[in-house]
Amino acid sequence: MCQFSFNPYCELHPDWETVSLNTFGSDDIFPFHKSLDVYQPTPLRSLGSLASAIGVGEILVKDESLRFGLKAFKALGASYAIHRFIKSRVEAETGRRLSIPEFLDTAGSGDCGSYTFCTATDGNHGRGVAWTARWLNQRAVIYMPRNSSQARIDGIRSEGAEVVVVDGTYDQAVTKAASDARRNGWVIISDTSYPGNMGIPSWIMAGYTTIFREIDDILGDQSPSAFDTVFIQVGVGALAAAAAWYYTVHRRNRRPRLISVEPLAADCLLESIRFGCGDTRTSRGDQDSMMAGLNCGTPSILAWEYVKRGMDFFMAIPDDYSRRAMRLFYHPCGDDPRLVSGESGAAGLAGLLALMESDKMSSAREQLDLGPRSSVLLINTEGDTDPVNFRNVVTTDA
Ligand SMILES: Cc1ncc(COP(=O)(O)O)c(C=O)c1O
Repeated sequence: MCQFSFNPYCELHPDWETVSLNTFGSDDIFPFHKSLDVYQPTPLRSLGSLASAIGVGEILVKDESLRFGLKAFKALGASYAIHRFIKSRVEAETGRRLSIPEFLDTAGSGDCGSYTFCTATDGNHGRGVAWTARWLNQRAVIYMPRNSSQARIDGIRSEGAEVVVVDGTYDQAVTKAASDARRNGWVIISDTSYPGNMGIPSWIMAGYTTIFREIDDILGDQSPSAFDTVFIQVGVGALAAAAAWYYTVHRRNRRPRLISVEPLAADCLLESIRFGCGDTRTSRGDQDSMMAGLNCGTPSILAWEYVKRGMDFFMAIPDDYSRRAMRLFYHPCGDDPRLVSGESGAAGLAGLLALMESDKMSSAREQLDLGPRSSVLLINTEGDTDPVNFRNVVTTDA
């Protein structure tokens, strides 16, 4: 049974200057990503037949399964943050401010110091950290929760990183990574922020804005009218924070409605919105959703500042909606293109299905004005990062 809430803290024009550590406006984010050899903008697909079948006017999908050959968007954050970290170290030690080409030269010649980068992950962020560390000839140690799939562990090891599987949840892996990093002098590249760890998570969130910049580049002048509702799947809330910042700033006067989608088993934003009196709360779910990337029990406190003031609606769904969404992407309607979308990647479509179909949500659907005149933006945040489960899901009928 889905759970949901409108956001009583939502502001039409939030003043982000009041948030500490706002790095979203940094002007080197998109140029940094574009300077990488592997860079290609990921495509924006239109699924017109699926839109008609579901009862909305248009569905656009930004396909992040094709990002950097890593099957997920996450390396946008890890690469930008590690680059900022190394630049700040070089500047502190030598007084030199590296431009992007100078950073790439320095990193390429192995002249940027020697670090061990460490993080907790459900899979994709850890792979992004490991990939960046390998590119820069650095070491990476990645902590994963006990229910991690072998394919996701292998994906991280294939980037040359060490993987430590913790006997606990994602939240417990975060705690263990932080204490081991402190003891060993490693650098934490965490995508979630908590007291004492804010700077790097702020750069990671900022790195995700490249997704929204690319959408604007692809749509050009059409962008402001191309979609009116955006579904964002949420783990700790960093991607949702990037969307909230981006659209409240860049679409100030024509802001799309922003909808957060979480698994019921890890509904930390919904729990916070409903019961936190403005503060974060931990999900009461057991963090065992099939949507592994969203299995996070505690919001990032920095991301919370943005989602609390920028998102319109929060919902939590059972895994079955994600299974159906994976199948709908993989077995397209009419002339729609096929998309390979993993458990968390399909969560945005899963949220849309739940809103359009559930009787319990009919008044929310009306208030959100979701219907044949709506144009919806979804982000396919991952491809088949667990190929075995992916195959099982898309080859099963109901
Ligand atoms: C595929 C996928 N989608 C969405 C998310 C959610 O991102 P965030 O944790 O920033 O909310 C994650 C997080 O790891 C992910 O792996």
